[in-house]
Amino acid sequence: MSTILYFETLNSTQTYLKDHFNELDDKTVVITGTQTAGRGRFDRQWVSQPGGLYFSVLLKPAKTDFVANITQLMALAVCEAAEKYGVQPNLKWPNDVQVAGKKLCGILSEAITQDNKIACLAVGVGVNVAQKDLSHVGQPAVSLRELGVNVAKEDFLQDVLAKFFAYYPAVLEEGFSVIRSAYKERFVFLGKQIVVKNGTSALTGIAHDLSPRGTLLLQTQNGLREILIGDLIV
Ligand code: BTN
Repeated sequence: MSTILYFETLNSTQTYLKDHFNELDDKTVVITGTQTAGRGRFDRQWVSQPGGLYFSVLLKPAKTDFVANITQLMALAVCEAAEKYGVQPNLKWPNDVQVAGKKLCGILSEAITQDNKIACLAVGVGVNVAQKDLSHVGQPAVSLRELGVNVAKEDFLQDVLAKFFAYYPAVLEEGFSVIRSAYKERFVFLGKQIVVKNGTSALTGIAHDLSPRGTLLLQTQNGLREILIGDLIV
């Protein structure tokens, strides 16, 4: 069982774990009602108003070969948790959860290093559960409440953690291949034309497949390209 730490407000659950990882156990979860400096991928701000679920999980894996796939595992866990309530989410590689093209959840994983080695991983998750207004999000977004689901944040957190920790030991040992078929079932962009942005560069192509290591295989005019990281734009 994980230790769960609750706060009414924090600057960021990610920052909290980075500041306290030494005194916290493996699998500690920190959850907060609001964040004053919530962070998203690529240094974006994550506006964190009441009603949303904001949490981070501290992981201290003995084996770090497959830590890159932990974020994808968390995205799948959020999908499966939402499915329990009749929602049909899909995955936008690498780690966004959407419903009908609207963002339901974002995930930010950050490695905490010591002596040039990965000491811990902080996996931060923001789920739109019951916010009243999502107009500040710079893209279409939706909450579980807007989808007709009235679930308490704490219950949804437990659902996500149960799914996550059910797969976690196997993913640590064997990587993305453990969740590849479940992930691909929910990756609706396969065979479609997409644009993948990484910093200032963008690549256009057809989403051909997800490799056994979780990278995106993009069929471009110049051949098949393996994409390790990026933002998928449709
Ligand atoms: C993204 O889609 O850009 C990722 C967003 C991740 C937001 C969560 S909310 C809980 C945790 N604390 C943070 O500051 N960020 C993550």
